[in-house]
Amino acid sequence: AILLAENEELLGKKVLITAGGTREALDPVRFLGNHSSGKMGYALARMAAAYGADVTLISAPSNLTTPKGVERIDVKTATEMAEAVFKYKEEQDVIIMAAAVADYRPKEFSDTKIKKKDGDLLIELERTEDILARLGKERENQVLVGFAAESDNLLENAQSKLKRKKADLIVANDISAQETGFASDDNQVTIIGKDIQVTLEKADKLEIARGVLDEVVKLLN
Ligand code: CTP
Ligand code: CA
Repeated sequence: AILLAENEELLGKKVLITAGGTREALDPVRFLGNHSSGKMGYALARMAAAYGADVTLISAPSNLTTPKGVERIDVKTATEMAEAVFKYKEEQDVIIMAAAVADYRPKEFSDTKIKKKDGDLLIELERTEDILARLGKERENQVLVGFAAESDNLLENAQSKLKRKKADLIVANDISAQETGFASDDNQVTIIGKDIQVTLEKADKLEIARGVLDEVVKLLN
């Protein structure tokens, strides 16, 4: 076996991680989704477990295998993800929102398959709850980490998310960069916090997870 971590700096800590892209159903056969592969969240779960943490992974649909020693809870929608996060949040030392949570869901769900007709179809959408923002508002003694996938103005947008959501760290990810996109094994991020800005070299998502968790460990100590 490969030795992932040389220390157990998260021993005795409880870490909650969300991963993957939520799916918002329109009818029994269709949903609104996104391109998140779940790889970043699963890598974080694997690395956090290697650091000795007690890891709960709340996962939107994903084909990835559950990392060893990690408790996985499967959810589909943003609403289910929010319910699971708030069910487990109390006891957590660290919460990392790596999931791509849908911002909108169809206002109505059709129990029967929507049949095509002539002309256009208009689907009304409503906002979902912002899980990270609510965690920030109801903050207890926890380290809160969010992600920001941006196609432009990376640092500016990430800074504003850090403030707006009252997170401790935002991991900013430039999705316009090639070879580091959603399904990619690699990623290139800048981690920002109130007093820090750390740019990690392009690396596989497990190495990025290590870099993120090292910043979390610093905040815990
Ligand atoms: N997030 C969340 N709940 C939502 C939407 C997002 O908890 N309903 C979290 C994500 O998991 C991520 C962070 O908020 O950690 C930032 O997500 P992002 O989509 O980049 O930001 P938004 O605030 O949704 O803004 P926008 O999509 O308009 O850029
Ligand atoms: Ca969003």
